[in-house]
Amino acid sequence: MRALDRLFQRRYPSVGGVSNEQARELAAISFGIGRQVGVLIDRKGRPSMVIVGTPDGIYIPDLSRSRVAGTRLRGLRLVHTHLRGEGLSEEDLTDMLFLRLDSITALNVTAMAEPGMMYWAHLLPPGQPGPDDEPYRIFGPVRFDQVDFDFEGQAIALEDELGRSGEALARDETGREGVAILVNVSSQPRAEAEASLEELADLAKTAGLSVAETVIQRVSKVNPKFIMGKGKVAELEILALRTGAQTLVFDRELSPAQIRNLAEVTERKIIDRTQLILDIFAQHATTRSGKLQVEMAQLKYLLPRLVRQGHAMSRLMGGIGGRGPGETKLEMDRRKVRERIDRIKSDLKKLRKRRGNTRARRAKVGLPVVSLVGYTNAGKSTLLNTLTKSKVLAEDKLFATLDPTSRRLRFPQDKELILTDTVGFIRELPAELREAFQATLEELEAADLLVHVADAAHPELENRIEAVNGILHEMDLGDIPVILALNKWDIATPATREIILSRYPDAIPVSALSREGLRPLVRYIVDRVLWRERVDGATMYDGTSAFADELYTVSSEYENETDPLKD
Ligand code: GTP
Repeated sequence: MRALDRLFQRRYPSVGGVSNEQARELAAISFGIGRQVGVLIDRKGRPSMVIVGTPDGIYIPDLSRSRVAGTRLRGLRLVHTHLRGEGLSEEDLTDMLFLRLDSITALNVTAMAEPGMMYWAHLLPPGQPGPDDEPYRIFGPVRFDQVDFDFEGQAIALEDELGRSGEALARDETGREGVAILVNVSSQPRAEAEASLEELADLAKTAGLSVAETVIQRVSKVNPKFIMGKGKVAELEILALRTGAQTLVFDRELSPAQIRNLAEVTERKIIDRTQLILDIFAQHATTRSGKLQVEMAQLKYLLPRLVRQGHAMSRLMGGIGGRGPGETKLEMDRRKVRERIDRIKSDLKKLRKRRGNTRARRAKVGLPVVSLVGYTNAGKSTLLNTLTKSKVLAEDKLFATLDPTSRRLRFPQDKELILTDTVGFIRELPAELREAFQATLEELEAADLLVHVADAAHPELENRIEAVNGILHEMDLGDIPVILALNKWDIATPATREIILSRYPDAIPVSALSREGLRPLVRYIVDRVLWRERVDGATMYDGTSAFADELYTVSSEYENETDPLKD
């Protein structure tokens, strides 16, 4: 112990890595106890940790406290002894890779308890792979007293290069964590995997990530314990190193075991599809209840995934760029998470009661409610804006809307209705999200009419329409009348227009942007909801209403809109 302690009091030189004396000291101790001995040395030559291994290996404990941001190196190099005269092992090299060590050095100990040959390796900057395409370069064997390599100088130069290439990719984003590699591991046919990755890429962009690379790994069966082996993860790590990606996004829901096993190998942030969607929800939640719902969904998702090691957990808890449930909760244990969930539940209950009152009040005033629903990015917010001329958030991102947004639409004769926007639907909505998602849609129960907005120019149009119908059905909203608005008609090709119209003959083609087809849509809405009189909760339809004609000429601004159905 005293000898080991002395190792800790040395300063280690940059050139050569260790002095001759230090090499002798290391060799003697290591030989004496029959185990590998290692020293983690910082850039100033100070040891930050002395590690004792087994005869054949060394286990580097959690270095999370010295974790470094971005693509930078750890700022630590490892010098350790080898007792069997071997060079750097595969383990040594992957440790260096995954822990982003400045370098790793193996010092052989001879049968005479003397230092012998030295081997060392360091990572290579992106775009400069080694002779066999490896992301590192190996040096040695060189006699321990003949090494004139400048370890610190090399680390600083490498870090510079890594920093530069990382920045190039991350420049358009806010942080370095903005760069991600998307991974699909599945037994799906390639085309399906590609389509799925495309949707994931859309989601990733909405979440503010920039996609550096997509990777498809086809397997005959997905292993429930290890989503991929260490070798495959090492390949991802190399890719991440080259592209400066900090985040690996998996195109499926990862089980707690899979996340844990991945987190044990790689230090990159691991996000699965569910977390990605949750993150988007978290970013876009604006109201108190929306935020609470998202937080609850996040906590529920994390609960079974909390792992013992602090570092792995914080990586999982962080979400993208440290959003998610928030920094202060990193230390949360299960009990606290459960308590928080209960607390949110009761808060939500109170909020829901209040919202129920708002709904009741609205019903009293007798204003009909028309809700826009539809797959994410279909153009609901744009349509709401165009119809009400209000500036509701409309961006070319998925899930730009989370909380229902309501606007009044005024017509002649003092007729009014309320038009509400909702959060976008998505297929394969993860189970954890269903509740949060549906809760944000509870406004729909009060709707008199749903306008199902679909993106007519999207190749997945039919699937998406089906997906939305499925969710509406699941939510017991099947009784509310629905009109299908085929949006983005302006960019649908004539050929597809024809096919779509024959498939959905009752739908109304519109363009929220170019304003085509708005008049028939408004006319339909007015027809459907404005001349219904409420009688004891039941509704009567009076198609011969006196102001029917007048209302047809609604807001004359729509009067001159072209009606694509007529053409
Ligand atoms: P979420 O909030 O994610 O559910 O999306 P959303 O359905 O509210 O979609 P949003 O209104 O944000 O529109 C998505 C994108 O589609 C935006 O870039 C719009 O400019 C575009 N868009 C909307 N309507 C039309 C349209 O009629 N034609 C064309 N060409 N683009 C449109």
